[in-house]
This record gives sequence, C-alpha cells and structure tokens, in this order.
Amino acid sequence: MTAQLTTDVAQAAAILRSGGLVAFATETVYGLGANALVELAVARVFAAKQRPTFDPLIVHLADANDLATVACDVPEPAQRLIEAFWPGPLTLVLPKQPVVPDLVTAGLGTVAVRVPAHPMARELIRLSGVPIAAPSANPFGRISPTTAQHVLDFLSEEIDMVLDGGACVVGVESTVLECSADGSVRLLRPGGLTIEEIEACIGPLAARGPTILDQHSPQVSPGLLAQHYAPRTRLLIVEDWAAAPYGENTGVLAFTAIASPENYGAVEILAPDGSLETATARFFAALRRLDEADVELIIAQRFPDHGLGRALNDRLIRAAGKWSEG
Ligand code: TXA
Ligand code: MG
Repeated sequence: MTAQLTTDVAQAAAILRSGGLVAFATETVYGLGANALVELAVARVFAAKQRPTFDPLIVHLADANDLATVACDVPEPAQRLIEAFWPGPLTLVLPKQPVVPDLVTAGLGTVAVRVPAHPMARELIRLSGVPIAAPSANPFGRISPTTAQHVLDFLSEEIDMVLDGGACVVGVESTVLECSADGSVRLLRPGGLTIEEIEACIGPLAARGPTILDQHSPQVSPGLLAQHYAPRTRLLIVEDWAAAPYGENTGVLAFTAIASPENYGAVEILAPDGSLETATARFFAALRRLDEADVELIIAQRFPDHGLGRALNDRLIRAAGKWSEG
C-alpha cells in the first residue's frame, strides 16, 4: 500500500467511515485519523505508528456541540475554556462515555478531546459523521509532521491517504489540560495555546508544568515521556554558542540570528523577527532539515520561557532526551 495524496475531503471521509487511515492537516500538526468508535480502525493507528497501547489518543470532533457523544461531566472551567478556545489548539481530558473503546483511552476512565481549527479537518470530521481518533502522524517518538510530505516521508506504506491541507500554521501540538470534577485544571502538555491565555480565562492552574518522567515511571499522561519528538542526529542543548561545538559536522537550530553562521555545516534560523509564533510554526520542519543535513551533531539554545516558548522548550528537551539520559 502507498498512501494516496489528495485534497478531496469527501473521498477521505469515505475512507475513514470504512475503517481506513487518513492523515490530515490540523492547525497544530498533521494527525493520523481513524474512526474513534471502531476498535479495529484504532488498532491500525497504533500499528502504523508503532505506538505502545499504553499511550492514549486524542478524539477529534467537528463541533463543540458534539462533546456529549464522547465525554460527560464537563466541569465549569472546562466549559469556559471550550467557549473561549474551541475550535483551536486545546485538548481537554474529561470523563469518557462508554461508547469510546478502551484502546483509544488506554483503559483510562477519561478521554482527551479537541475540536481542531483547520477548516479542512473540521469538514473531514463532519463528513465522516463520527469522532476521529488521531495522534500526530509520525512514527512513535519521532519528529512531528507539519506538511503532507513529512507524513509521506515516514508513513506512506502504512496508511491509506494523506489529505493535504498545506503547512500547519501553529506548528506544535495542542495544549493538553486535565479537568477534574472538583474544578481543578492541570497542565499535562504545553502546546499551541499558551498558559498565559488559559490563566487569563480560568485563573491559576492547579499544576503548571508537566514533569519529565523517565520511561519506567507510572504514566499520568504518556506524552510526558522523557524521549520524544527526536531526530536521529544527536541533539545538544547549549547555554552559549561561543562555548559550544562548531565546525562543518555541527548544525545549529537557532531562535534568532547568530554570529558567524559560516562556522557551521547547517544553520536554521527559526525567527529572524524574534517572534515565537514564527519560530513555533517552523520548528519541526527545521529540525527535520537539520536531521537530513550532513551533520553529526545539532546544537540548540533554549527559547524564552514564556508563551509558546514553553511548548518549544518542552519539545526541545524531549528531543534531546535520548542523548542527555546517558
Ligand atoms: O495537536 C494535537 O494534539 C495533535 C493533532 C493531530 O490534533 N495530536 C496529538 O496527538 O498530538 P498525540 O497522540 O501525539 O498526543 C496525545 C497526547 C499524549 O501526550 C497522550 O498521552 C495524551 O494526549 N492523552 C490522550 N488521552 C489522554 C488521557 N485520557 N489522559 C491523559 N492524557 C491523555
Ligand atoms: Mg505525538
């Protein structure tokens, strides 16, 4: 099987309805979609990604009004977040309805739900007529895809179709929040919606930082794995370019312009304008280009620790995790 690349939303919806796998653009990253209510279809997602089944999937809806089909007991802060930020890069973990298969939720009593903002994604879900389970459309643990070609590069033989919706405008995955019955809200994964925006809406979060756990700790949310989003090339986070390795075997992932770019084998400047939005939109594609460049080491600096910078630092630390654990 080789995935077909298309912009035909109706055809893609028909494949989803019949239990097939369709990768599709969202505003965050490309998702690998399957009918969330059919266990066999969901099983194909885990197989295609080689994703361990302890790692639950996000269920995507076309409209917030469909929430009751998959989740129940929506606490007040969650309601306010939905009104403020859906459709958009926000995933809420809520008590699940029995109709959602255990495979989707890894046996948890909760389900992660979001309404994506990309018009093509919403049209796809609406036409398919069912909730769509979709993790990011990359092999497990690898760099997330932000273009249709990124999906084809690694999953073309495993899936039926890629719905080309252009390059993702946000560029990192959704922010995941756990909403408890007592009204407390906890951050499980920083992402495309910033903590500042969330706290301006519902007040201070009960917990603000995902803890980076090692592979053997009990999983609160398996997205907390210390190694994730990883290139094959060694990645090192450095404090100071001047004291860091250089040379033609070294690639640089930089937020803004650097001194002496000629000292390196490859340089990716994410945001010459210093905008975190621009850097986020370009982050995963730049990491892929460096991974494909003829370098043996990629060096990167931390981003400013506010706004989207938090999500970028989280991805950077996990991408480097494979090498920093020793
Ligand atoms: O932006 C996104 O969220 C993208 C696009 C395609 O929508 N999707 C995505 O899915 O990033 P994935 O599977 O790569 O990440 C899902 C995250 C994981 O960290 C998973 O552990 C967490 O959500 N998650 C899913 N269900 C959960 C649950 N019931 N409780 C806690 N965490 C959950
Ligand atoms: Mg992912």
